[in-house]
Amino acid sequence: MAIFCAALALFAFSTWAALGGALAEPVTILLSATAIFVLFTVLHDAAHYSISTHRWVNVAFGRVAMLFVSSLISFRSFAFIHIEHHRNTNDDDNDPDHFVSGAPWWQVPVRFPLMDLPYLTFLVRNVRRRPRAEVLETSLLMVLSVSVIVACALTGHLWTLAVLYLIPERVAMFVLAWWFDWLPHHDLEDTQQENRYRATRNRVGSEWVLTPLLLSQNYHLVHHLHPSIPFYRYVAAWRRNEEAYLERDAAVGTVFGQQLDADEYREWKRLNGKLARLLPVRMPKRSSARAAEFHPVPVAGVDRLTADSVLIRFDVPDRLLDKFSFEPGQHVTVRTDLGGEGVRRNYSICSAATSGSLEIAVKHIPEGAFSTFAMDRLRAGDTLELMTPTGSFGTPLDPLARRNYVAIAAGSGITPILSILRTTLAVETESRFTLVYGNRDDESTMFRDELADLEARYADRLRNLHVRSREPRHPAHLRGRIDRSKLERWLGADFPTSTVDEWFLCGPVAMVSDLRDLLLERGAEPDRVHVELFHGYQKARVADGFTSAAASVTLRGRQHEVSLEAGDTVLEAALKAGLDAPYACLGGACGTCQAKVLLGSVAMEQNFALSAADLQAGHVLTCQSRPTTPSVAVDYDA
Ligand code: FES
Repeated sequence: MAIFCAALALFAFSTWAALGGALAEPVTILLSATAIFVLFTVLHDAAHYSISTHRWVNVAFGRVAMLFVSSLISFRSFAFIHIEHHRNTNDDDNDPDHFVSGAPWWQVPVRFPLMDLPYLTFLVRNVRRRPRAEVLETSLLMVLSVSVIVACALTGHLWTLAVLYLIPERVAMFVLAWWFDWLPHHDLEDTQQENRYRATRNRVGSEWVLTPLLLSQNYHLVHHLHPSIPFYRYVAAWRRNEEAYLERDAAVGTVFGQQLDADEYREWKRLNGKLARLLPVRMPKRSSARAAEFHPVPVAGVDRLTADSVLIRFDVPDRLLDKFSFEPGQHVTVRTDLGGEGVRRNYSICSAATSGSLEIAVKHIPEGAFSTFAMDRLRAGDTLELMTPTGSFGTPLDPLARRNYVAIAAGSGITPILSILRTTLAVETESRFTLVYGNRDDESTMFRDELADLEARYADRLRNLHVRSREPRHPAHLRGRIDRSKLERWLGADFPTSTVDEWFLCGPVAMVSDLRDLLLERGAEPDRVHVELFHGYQKARVADGFTSAAASVTLRGRQHEVSLEAGDTVLEAALKAGLDAPYACLGGACGTCQAKVLLGSVAMEQNFALSAADLQAGHVLTCQSRPTTPSVAVDYDA
């Protein structure tokens, strides 16, 4: 914000002084070009949403800065083009900046100051992919820009306009092309998709002058690895992670153009007397509760996500933080009293497991008691009974892993996947994620803006494919519902099963089962296809074939003896005996009622929550388990 204000003030001063005849034309051009160069850094950070956590603030700053940098392109179009540059760096056909970074040296004087022209060509090529409002905004800006130039020419003010804006803008463009594109990318052969550590380079040495002069773009590699870091933190981020980057053979050159491999760089650094430290990675932690238990937790805020969904943020008291820590993909059960009737509902956590915040999203279900209450009456400051997190939809993360993840979600199925996606991209800095997300239309898409922000932040590692069933103008291949035939197409081209390490499916039962079957047919390993259902099938009570039994139930460190009538599930018997056993869906989908069988055996009717490894270890869903031996022992704490 400070450099934004300073740059605007500098531009205003040079314009005012030039119009008053107090500044020579070359000085005016130099000062205004400097202001525009600085404004590009504001625009650049705004395009990555790193100025503010409020999206609109980035858009506001970006729109103003964009007018100075290039009045032909709207901010949103620029942000789109720039993200494509991140996604496809050094790719001849798909990197809009390759016009500059791939230029032969003798064409540099022409290409550098005209670097926004290939942007326009790129936009025209992709016009069908862009929202109509953005295309209109860019078209309007082009018409206005040309009109102003023509008007100035007709009224004899063209030279004034040239000195005040047109020439400084092209001078700034030349420097931007040189420092943001040529120095970091020229002569590197790898593309971002092939090797993200060698598609961009740092220029080391003379930092005392180069870092302020280039506004940290001498460490441009850090920007391409972590696009959401604001420019003034590039150098610190590099130093804190330096050894990890060098292990990956990061591209480093000196200011004089000498390319250094990792050992040469270490030696260079030793000679320059610098030290490096490794940055500790924050990892998700499971809840410390032995068995799931309820606690009153205040609501910090309720925000509207779409017309029929809200985000609920919780303010977990410090003393409960360990109990409410969670792994990505886990869920919590909410219990409250509504008009004398106790309701309990299970919701996936959607915040990142490393973020320190606990958030759930609730979609309104017609006649749904809790969702109607959450939409209409729940407010910040209210308190809800919240069960400690349970579930095992996610997979263990490893900061050094380089994996390829694909998640397919429909509607509110995005909630656990959003947590997995956010946490994975934060912890595994080498891994890539593709999200396929189905909704009716843009308006009904939960977390639409958050997903766009994440795509901007992790440009080369996250790809969002939005499938829309009721949006006639949506691209044809992404129109309709997510189904077998669409997945077949994606498996053929976008993500063949052999290239994907883990799959996550969450949405309606029919969609999830169809897609899972297809993945298994195509060779995906069952343990790698993770499924989360919000509702199992609640089946009629069965008594035939079962006998009464005596059960020993261990819960929160205490052992209880309960008796089961023929047909009772273990959970039903525990609840009848007055035990506060954990449960939520009662349909075999959420995994909240999980326990370990220590003695005897049970038959489980349905299971959408436990993995083969869980079953192997003796875990069962007690809401689905009926004893097949006269006595059984189960442990909810194991
Ligand atoms: S309560 Fe959800 S699986 Fe048993």
